[in-house]
Amino acid sequence: MDRPHLETLTIEPQMAFGSIKNVSKIFSAGELLSRSAEPVVALDDASFDFEQGQLVSLLGPSGCGKTTLLRIVAGLIPKTSGSVVIGDHEVVEPLGDYGFVFQSPSLMPWRTVIDNVLFPMEILKRNNKAARQRAGELLELVGLSGFVGARPHQLSGGMQQRVALCRALIHAPQLLLMDEPFGALDELTRMEMNDLLLRIRRETGASVLFVTHSISEAIYLSDKVIVFSRRPARVAQEIPIDLPYPRSQRTRFTPAFTQAERIASEALGVLPPVDEKGTPS
Ligand SMILES: Nc1ncnc2c1ncn2[C@@H]1O[C@H](COP(=O)(O)OP(=O)(O)OP(=O)(O)O)[C@@H](O)[C@H]1O
Ligand SMILES: [Mg+2]
Repeated sequence: MDRPHLETLTIEPQMAFGSIKNVSKIFSAGELLSRSAEPVVALDDASFDFEQGQLVSLLGPSGCGKTTLLRIVAGLIPKTSGSVVIGDHEVVEPLGDYGFVFQSPSLMPWRTVIDNVLFPMEILKRNNKAARQRAGELLELVGLSGFVGARPHQLSGGMQQRVALCRALIHAPQLLLMDEPFGALDELTRMEMNDLLLRIRRETGASVLFVTHSISEAIYLSDKVIVFSRRPARVAQEIPIDLPYPRSQRTRFTPAFTQAERIASEALGVLPPVDEKGTPS
């Protein structure tokens, strides 16, 4: 048998699925509520990449520009300069293939759970039998199959956020944008939602950009954590999280987890950096 040429054994470097390059955003007078207000520099030359199926957390102080960046990636607001490429396309208008989960579930109170989940399919004019079946499957995946016909007020906050997650996933997007989705939940529910998100990511293969204020949540979930500086947000540090998946709550008590927490805390400026001898500088 012929030996394969060496070239055939070369593994192509994986192309980035998402590429944020030198993105800056200045909210100009025209975009501000008060015309007399000074322009606001929300993002300053932010760059990072992510691969298909990766979960990347964006961590940074309040008001630094994380939501602004998610909205730019979704194509909901224009950037001032730089480029955003998702898949094969430069983002210049609202993306068709993404799901967005906000901090509050923002469900429609008059609709049942399943009709809330199906809402994007109505907009896309794809609200057919297959969509209803997928909605049922998603609700089962998040443990809400018994609440298909319930109204949002009959659900707890965590349950409502699970409905919002199903709504974001109903059209099987390749990219999930999540803006502090679990920030309002109690600690225990938040941990359950973290595990649920990791399971959904594994089962759907979607890439996820996840904004959070919680260092431990960012590390627990992510392949990579991007730490932003104070406004205007610059990428202060990109931290690869070298913890194997699947992760479990025990992962939080490993030395590698604590080490990642220390690095992220230093990058955020909540811990003074130390030199190689461990002495604070
Ligand atoms: N539409 C807008 N018009 C003017 N300024 C804006 C607009 N949206 C955001 N900003 C400003 O841009 C800056 C970044 O806001 P952004 O909401 O992106 O921060 P954030 O990092 O998401 O904060 P938080 O963690 O508190 O949610 C803030 O100073 C904010 O006031
Ligand atoms: Mg925000």
